[in-house]
Amino acid sequence: MPNATQMIRQDHKKVEGLFKKFEQTKGSQAKRRLAENAMAELEVHAALEEEIFYPAVKNEVDDGSSMVQEAIEEHQTVKQLISELKRMEEADEEFESQFSQLMENVQHHVEEEESEMLPKVEESELDLNSLGQQMAQRKQEMQNGGRATKKASNAGSGRKSAGSKSTARKPAGKKAGSKTAARKTGSTKKSTGRKATKKSGSRSRRRA
Ligand SMILES: [Fe+2]
Repeated sequence: MPNATQMIRQDHKKVEGLFKKFEQTKGSQAKRRLAENAMAELEVHAALEEEIFYPAVKNEVDDGSSMVQEAIEEHQTVKQLISELKRMEEADEEFESQFSQLMENVQHHVEEEESEMLPKVEESELDLNSLGQQMAQRKQEMQNGGRATKKASNAGSGRKSAGSKSTARKPAGKKAGSKTAARKTGSTKKSTGRKATKKSGSRSRRRA
């Protein structure tokens, strides 16, 4: 079974694959189906991270708190875009441009997680196998029965051993979603060149 960070990377790959198909597909109905598929994947992925992975990272990883804070803000933007997309009836041009904005946001989030958060997590004391198990179980619950009741009891409990850190564990973080991220509407930056943007650039983009 994949551990927590492997699972996250796999999810990212899956969504990126759907994005690629979306871009290559012509028919608007087929595009819509792919978009819906990607959005469903993203919703489950975000919930797993927020309920299980982020609380553990926040408590046990250096800089975890600020990385998680930033990631949660990015999730809020993504969720906002998804809820708007779901309200659109046609898979028309507007839908496509909105979905492009979603893809850009997700790609940025993925890059940041994979280049910053996940490597730090992998060097930490977190028990990634146990976290992965919790995430897999929760994922199944969500896929079987929609949004099952939130299981927060063991979020953040996946430390390898008591180790040298003696800090008492804080209660699992604030519930994500209380904050509405300011989303930049209007100008959709071309996605080309995004990959080259370093952190500072992307930060200003989101906060602008
Ligand atoms: Fe992610």
